[in-house]
Amino acid sequence: GVTEMTLRVNGTVRTLRAEPRVSLLDALRENLDLTGTKKGCDYGQCGACTVHVDGRRINSCLTLAVMNQGKEIMTIEGLAKGEVLHPMQEAFIKHDGFQCGYCTPGQIMSGVACVREGKAGTDAEIREYMSGNLCRCGAYPNIVAAVREVAR
Ligand code: FES
Repeated sequence: GVTEMTLRVNGTVRTLRAEPRVSLLDALRENLDLTGTKKGCDYGQCGACTVHVDGRRINSCLTLAVMNQGKEIMTIEGLAKGEVLHPMQEAFIKHDGFQCGYCTPGQIMSGVACVREGKAGTDAEIREYMSGNLCRCGAYPNIVAAVREVAR
């Protein structure tokens, strides 16, 4: 049956009602209208659903919403400070790090985590860290360029 849960997303406490089996991805998109996080594969293969939980990036399709109560969830919507874009968002624009844009929120959330975790020392390191984020348009060189710029 449907249960009530409380999630802390982008610094705001949100209450929702959903079945315990609902993924964090579906809770964000369907229950909280945070549609910036994308659903590509829904089974951990594409990275489109990447968000941060307690500062660590995860595939939100692979975790249940109910298990993430009491944690700090950040989505792409939480990255900009009002009208001021996050440096990673600016870098993606500057370097054309997207074409169709579907994978971009996940790419950016992974890019932010990549730099924060100190895994952006070389292009090879960036490619390795970002390898779980697929881009069908093949914007990989530009994505790496964006992450590289923020890391410097
Ligand atoms: Fe979660 Fe593809 S939708 S990894």
